[in-house]
Amino acid sequence: MRKLTPDTITDAVLDQMATTSDPRMKEVMAAAVRHLHAFAKEVNLTPGEWIKGIEFMTLVGKMCTPARQEFILLSDTLGLSALVNGLHDKTALEEGTHTSLLGPFYREASPRLAAGSQIAKHVKPGTECVLYGRVSDVNGKPLADATVSVWQTSADGLYDIQENASAVDYRGVFSTDKNGLYVVRTVKPRGYSIPMDGPVGGMVRAQGRHGMRPAHIHFLVGLPGYRELVTALYLRDDPHLADDVVFGSSDDLAVDIIANDPECPIEGVPSIRFDLKLSREGEADKTSGRVGSDPSAILKEAKIAAPALAAN
Ligand code: BEZ
Ligand code: FE
Repeated sequence: MRKLTPDTITDAVLDQMATTSDPRMKEVMAAAVRHLHAFAKEVNLTPGEWIKGIEFMTLVGKMCTPARQEFILLSDTLGLSALVNGLHDKTALEEGTHTSLLGPFYREASPRLAAGSQIAKHVKPGTECVLYGRVSDVNGKPLADATVSVWQTSADGLYDIQENASAVDYRGVFSTDKNGLYVVRTVKPRGYSIPMDGPVGGMVRAQGRHGMRPAHIHFLVGLPGYRELVTALYLRDDPHLADDVVFGSSDDLAVDIIANDPECPIEGVPSIRFDLKLSREGEADKTSGRVGSDPSAILKEAKIAAPALAAN
């Protein structure tokens, strides 16, 4: 029998896992073990510290509900979600608009609305704005009938479900017209703090970070034959554009609010123009999965998987 020491344990684990039948699972798990072991060695991890890490992850799991996905928040604040998105962008057939985080507030069930509808149920004076733009392919050819789903905070910086778990507000699903145009009436979103009352907030505070996201509006754009685009626009004048706590903002996604844009389809209201370019869909896109997930759907899946695991 091999003598297990800090120098031999990694290979012992890799040897035992070598029987994994799914080749991708085998590759991912082997890399995870190698890097986890290297991490423990690099910091000389103590048993007490590892228990603290396990306690932390347990709290992260316990914080998850249909309305809140603390694991996504952890991945976001560690830059892992942005990294995975960046790797995903590189696999596109063509370079379209870059992705940005889906975030924890996306909901598959959103109202379908006619072009130009107001997505906010309450519009505070002075906060209204128009959001419009063209969806095109990477060569600028307009794409008709694309689905454009948008969601954002109120002008006070809160998502609907943060105010009330069953509320539906500041979100809607639109279609592009024959010129690829979408038009939405909304309110100016506000930069806000990620939820800081859980274990991830504790971590962010312990690291001396501010926990703020710059003001943004999320997009999920789809059209058969094109790669689904998950992205967001960011308001350029937000003080946290350059230090988003979840690393989602970037210069190429930054926009201005214009007082009198002559091209805006609705006159007399400040507007944001955000054009979106879609890459054609490649074979790999059909199986690579969405960039992020509706948190309530994750919980449903987890419940289905649990008895199956217990039975083994
Ligand atoms: C958001 O976009 O709303 C968000 C993204 C990541 C973490 C928290 C919030
Ligand atoms: Fe958001």
